Amino acid sequence: MEKYVINGGNKLYGSVKIQSAKNSVLPILAAAVLTDGKVTITNVPHISDVRNMVKILTRLGCSAVFDGENIIIDSSSADCFEIPSGLAHELRSSVFLLGSLISRFKMAKIAFPGGCDIGLRPVDLHLTGLKRLGVEITEKNGYILCKCEKLTGNEIMLDCPSVGATENIMLAAVKAEGTTVIKNAAREPEIEDLQKFLNAIGAKVLGAGSGTIVIEGVKTLGGTEFQPISDRIEAGTFLVAAAMCGGEVQLECAGAENISSLLHKLRENGCNIHIKNDKIMLESSRRLTSVKSIETQPYPGFPTDLQAQITALCCICKGQSIITENLFETRFKYVPELRKMGADITVIDRSAFVRGVDRFKGATVVAHDLRGGAALVLAALAAEGRSEVLDISHIDRGYGSFEHKLRAIGGDIVRVVV
Ligand code: UD1
Repeated sequence: MEKYVINGGNKLYGSVKIQSAKNSVLPILAAAVLTDGKVTITNVPHISDVRNMVKILTRLGCSAVFDGENIIIDSSSADCFEIPSGLAHELRSSVFLLGSLISRFKMAKIAFPGGCDIGLRPVDLHLTGLKRLGVEITEKNGYILCKCEKLTGNEIMLDCPSVGATENIMLAAVKAEGTTVIKNAAREPEIEDLQKFLNAIGAKVLGAGSGTIVIEGVKTLGGTEFQPISDRIEAGTFLVAAAMCGGEVQLECAGAENISSLLHKLRENGCNIHIKNDKIMLESSRRLTSVKSIETQPYPGFPTDLQAQITALCCICKGQSIITENLFETRFKYVPELRKMGADITVIDRSAFVRGVDRFKGATVVAHDLRGGAALVLAALAAEGRSEVLDISHIDRGYGSFEHKLRAIGGDIVRVVV
């Protein structure tokens, strides 16, 4: 068990290089199982979700080697189509491997996935989509068992634009016979990135980024070297940190076009933001004003993965805000922890009603999930006095070198083994 010890109150100045997007890298790692060609993914974040995905790939018989910031995957020796519960429970993205495994082996056996406990997180849309491609699915003793004679393209209408279901169906369809059309597909930038990767290894995918994706099955796929897009959630987290602590922070490799909804809200709060090429500069020198309301939505709406961080910011703004979480049922678990730091928040159903206070006060708080944990770190950096954030393994799932990057811009934060 490790914790962060944070002495709050420092302003943040300096620049931060943003990592490749966790939510791009994970499905791309799953996609590497589809091909016997060598795949190199560059600027990969050192986070536990990636390490766990690599563990799973190795278990499947793939070779996965870290080379500095890159990972080289060779799946030519993959010989296993089963992911046991121990590994699947570590990582929700293990579910993406259903599409790749069924494509490669015509069989797949995966324990129901784990990941952040932020709601029910069913996988029914993944399974319905795969069934439309000809996969027979049974569920037994906590495992999903899939088999098929062959995969055949089809039209699939998603009941809601699920990111994971869209990606899983794309992975199953790239080598199916004929054409697959996914309607009401998720439009997140990471889906466009997956399309770009798949096409780089020889697939024929069109339309990602819109609500309709068309995949024409191909027989073989090759290798490539690929640089995923930058992590819009990491970028957003550092911008909110600078807004909360005050100072002037510049993000490098930031992909401003993918976080317009956050930038819009931060400008409404009173932050000065300048964008130049792939850099975002944020300056915040006075107490900010609350935004009236924020609702999380599928992309291009406000991301659920930045909900906790923006709520923490609203806690110390002038005025009142209502933050509504529309995607995941239990994504306010960090609220009682923020209250320990002096926040004035009431949660009713899916909305948090926030009345701004002057400052947070240092306290000992517990991270219950990845983004809620990050929000607690930001609150502690902005707080008066000393805080401890416990159970930071959740934060390690998605932020590489978090404390190093924060220290480099002036945050007083250290990792301590408990
Ligand atoms: C992905 C992201 C996660 C982000 C989320 C929403 C990755 C690795 N994770 O998660 O960081 O918070 O998108 O932007 O990319 N749903 C169903 N049935 C299904 C699948 C989903 O009802 O079969 C529902 C979910 O309960 C949720 C909504 O659809 O309410 C969106 O979930 P989804 O887009 O699938 O999120 P993930 O892919 O799990």
